[in-house]
Amino acid sequence: MNQPLKIGTFQPSKRILLGPGPSDVHQRVLDAMARPTLGHLDPEFGNMMEELKTLLRYAFQTENQLTFALSAPGSIGMESCFVNLVEPGDKAIVCSNGVFGRRMAENVKRSRGELVMLEDAWGSAVDSQKLEDALKAHPDTKVVAFVHAETSTGVESDAKLLTEIAHRYDALVICDAVTSLACIPLLVDEWEIDAVYSGSQKGLSCTPGLSPVSFSERAVAKIKQRGHSVQSWFMDLNLVMGYWDEAKSGGKRTYHHTAPINALYGLHESLVMLVEEGLESRWARHRRNHLGLVAGLDALGLKLPVAERARLPQLNSVMVPEGISEPQVRADMLAKHGIEIGAGLGDLAGKIFRIGLMGTSSSQENVLTCLAALGSVLATQGWKARSGAAIEAANKVFAV
Ligand SMILES: Cc1ncc(COP(=O)(O)O)c(C=O)c1O
Repeated sequence: MNQPLKIGTFQPSKRILLGPGPSDVHQRVLDAMARPTLGHLDPEFGNMMEELKTLLRYAFQTENQLTFALSAPGSIGMESCFVNLVEPGDKAIVCSNGVFGRRMAENVKRSRGELVMLEDAWGSAVDSQKLEDALKAHPDTKVVAFVHAETSTGVESDAKLLTEIAHRYDALVICDAVTSLACIPLLVDEWEIDAVYSGSQKGLSCTPGLSPVSFSERAVAKIKQRGHSVQSWFMDLNLVMGYWDEAKSGGKRTYHHTAPINALYGLHESLVMLVEEGLESRWARHRRNHLGLVAGLDALGLKLPVAERARLPQLNSVMVPEGISEPQVRADMLAKHGIEIGAGLGDLAGKIFRIGLMGTSSSQENVLTCLAALGSVLATQGWKARSGAAIEAANKVFAV
């Protein structure tokens, strides 16, 4: 190469992240990540890993020994659950009501399991009766999987009830909690969920790239007793346990892969912040800010496609009104106001916006800023309702 490359330090703009994730990362988390890198087998780092596991047990509300963070985003949590818990030929029911349910089905197929697919309408919760009927028809089902908080639509499904039904038929449960952890109640032990995975970048407001997971004793027993070895070396939890599980490694962690040290400092800090706030207060904050946003959207004349009882406070789907250009609204929100909101995915592409209020991003200030910006952006496309009314409506909710 003759010419020197003219590429300097990357300086990202300051945004307000109100999409489906990532959410805004708190400065405390960014500061934690800037601390000196330790070796991944350094005893000091090992102590931090033990703390991290304790903190994650709090977040998941579990005593599960095998609770830790996988070194990759939420998708690896999903994939690890399937490759470890679904053996070739195992029957697995996937209850799907959106993009991420469909991905679970793909994971069953790739694990060479026998897929029984249950589809519910996008925008509705998973139908528990359908699951019960499917289990009656397929009593040899080994695994039932569902998404607790379907990010593609903004819908909550009843994880407790679905787990209860699956257990009546002796099936293990895989629950996707990528968008639910630290936003809405998720009680892993009380609901007896067997395998649960999440992501670092939503309710926890850490940087993307880590996947907290937790496995019940029953799930661990299944993994240990598999007849076939897990086809993925990296995701084989029997091997990963030697690094993360002190009991399994006899107090001597062994090298599996080089852990993302500084990212784990960040996750540790985000969990310390969760403990400081308290899970219940965190859930209440998400609900309150959601109600403020909904009141404002209503005053703007915008409609929500999800029935009130199934709405996720952390992910708000909003119908794109007739005559409004959806991509233009998102582009203007970003360019003129520095606010990222999400587009619809899959079947809902072009039909909805998705406004996330997750973790650090879930604040009264962000609700008001978003409503003001949205009102002004819609006005440029001829929409009549104005931001003033929306802000007033949201403030009424916040004043109570
Ligand atoms: C419900 C759900 N599951 C899985 C994933 C995949 O997570 P990641 O993008 O971190 O790999 C996402 C990401 O948005 C999600 O919302």
